Amino acid sequence: ASIKIALIIGSLRKASINRKFAQYIVSQMPENVTVEEVCIADLPLYNQDYDDTTIDSYERVRQQLTAVDAVLIVTPEHNRTMPAALKNVIDIASRPYKESVWRHKKVALVTASPSNYGGINSGLDVRKSMQMLSAHMMVSPEVYLSQATDSLNEDGSVTERTQKYLQTFIDELVAFAAGTDA
Ligand code: FNR
Repeated sequence: ASIKIALIIGSLRKASINRKFAQYIVSQMPENVTVEEVCIADLPLYNQDYDDTTIDSYERVRQQLTAVDAVLIVTPEHNRTMPAALKNVIDIASRPYKESVWRHKKVALVTASPSNYGGINSGLDVRKSMQMLSAHMMVSPEVYLSQATDSLNEDGSVTERTQKYLQTFIDELVAFAAGTDA
């Protein structure tokens, strides 16, 4: 059966290392898996007043996230938590009240940072929000890539060592999205 995954990258910058890891993970998806990126760069800052109006970019992300079997979030850490742009799309898709797309949505997560902590604080805060929203988080393996610049070759490709490290996550992600992990 065909499986759809939405990809959210928590970094807006062009040279994002998180984007590079995301691209590698996407490149390893089997043929029956389609991955569509959810663009978060153009989303106005969430405002509850907008719940009564139609904002095209809000509708786009809500529809994109509703349509998929699972969401993959690959994100850096900004000041010990998730980047504001990622929190923004989480908030947007959680509203209007009772129309949250996160409820029972499958969500898998990777963080990466050049630091020793791998962006774990960002990842744990994403997990905290997702728990509150009743999303169905992929629990393990947890991937918080530390010293992540060392996991990239000069051409931006992922080193062989980290490719191997990511394999169990990739296998579990596919099974999780397909519902064959139980
Ligand atoms: C950072 N960075 C960072 N790293 C970290 O491990 N913990 C942190 O709290 C922070 N805080 C932080 C705040 C802000 C505003 C910036 C811009 C950066 C460093 C960060 O991990 C690094 O810039 C990564 O390269 C960002 O990921 P992308 O954009 O390369 O995917």
